[in-house]
Parts: sequence; structure tokens; C-alpha cells
Amino acid sequence: MSPAVLIDYPWRRPVALDAILGEAARLRFKMSCENRTGALLAVLAASKPGGRILELGTGVGAGTAWLLDGMTDDATLTSVELDPTVQAVALARLGADPRLKLVERDAADWLTTYDGPGFDLAYVDCRPGKFTHLDQLIDLLNPGALYLGDDLLLQPTWPEDHQARVDAFLDHLPHQRRLRPVVMSWASGLVVAART
Ligand SMILES: C[S@@+](CC[C@H](N)C(=O)[O-])C[C@H]1O[C@@H](n2cnc3c(N)ncnc32)[C@H](O)[C@@H]1O
Repeated sequence: MSPAVLIDYPWRRPVALDAILGEAARLRFKMSCENRTGALLAVLAASKPGGRILELGTGVGAGTAWLLDGMTDDATLTSVELDPTVQAVALARLGADPRLKLVERDAADWLTTYDGPGFDLAYVDCRPGKFTHLDQLIDLLNPGALYLGDDLLLQPTWPEDHQARVDAFLDHLPHQRRLRPVVMSWASGLVVAART
């Protein structure tokens, strides 16, 4: 007989995660990804051996830790964050990992000026690359690359005008011919897409 409830919380966590979330609490930073999203990030990262991975919006590094946890030794992760105070936590807890490059920069500026090689997985967790500059982000995805955007379900941290931004993004997605997306009413509300 099937269980009435499917337990979908991960049983395995990155080693650095508890320390990172402790620092987040100290800084009153409430925007770290939840564990189910993190577990999915680790799976997506594991699907790209040797891959080039991008995160926009490092925060304190919870999602970064999950991505690193799933990545192979020869994969690399570039993570871009505007706020040096929060990114300092990621630097302290994860910065020794040679696969990680932390960039302190506005993701909108970074997206419009980056001219290096493309990426195989992008975790977009701030407005640029999702609600703005989506085309520039897609330009950087290799064929078959995966895209994960989160926080599409109402979050307590949202400003009043934010729902309209999310609605416009969701309305636009079916017309975006370079992405094959699926929207998931799961965790914080996700879109997972493949670059076609
Ligand atoms: C939802 S939090 C990131 C959480 C993190 N990715 C995780 O999974 O734990 C969003 C982050 O994006 C950063 N941010 C907001 N606007 C940005 C921008 N224009 N460029 C870069 N980072 C930005 C915020 O400072 C915040 O730390």
C-alpha cells in the first residue's frame, strides 16, 4: 500500500550548511533556499559532470553549498552577489573550495558584460536573469543547459509590488522559445527549464 504522505525532505545535507544557516540567523538573513530546493540543486549539479555552473544571488551561500555538494571535482561554480556582507559568509565557509569563484557584483552588470564561456546549469535567485535580463542569461546557456529559478510562490520577504513581477515572468515563459520550462508548485515555487 502507498504511504499517505510522501516525505520529500532530504536526508543528506552539505557539511557546511548548518554553520551557514547559523550565520544567516545571526545576520537576520531570511532568504536562503529551503532544503528541498537545495537537494534539487545538488541533483542538477550532479547531472553536469565537469560542468560550468552559475548562481546569481549568492546570499550567505546555502544554495552554493548544495550546488558544491552535488558537483564533481572538475566542475566549477561562479556565484554573483551584490551585497558583500552576506557573501562574506559564503567566502568564510566555502571559499577554500577551489571549484568556487565568488564575484561581488550586480548580476545585471555582470550579465551584460560577461564574455567568457557558457554555462551548463544556472541557478537564478535574484531579479536579473529571471525578472529582468532573461535574454542575456539565456545567451550564456550552452545547448541542453538547465535553468532553475525559485521563489515563485508568495514569500513573506516580498515587497508589495513583487507579485506583478512574478506574474509577468510566468506569462512570458510559454513564449520564450529558447527554453523548455516546467513550473513546479513545490518548495518556494520553482521553474526548471532546459536550454533548447
Ligand atoms: C534569495 S537570496 C539568495 C539565496 C541563495 N541563492 C540561496 O539559495 O541560499 C537573493 C540574493 O540576491 C542578492 N541580490 C539582489 N539583487 C541582486 C543583484 N542585482 N545582483 C546580485 N545579487 C543580488 C541579494 O542580496 C540576496 O543575497
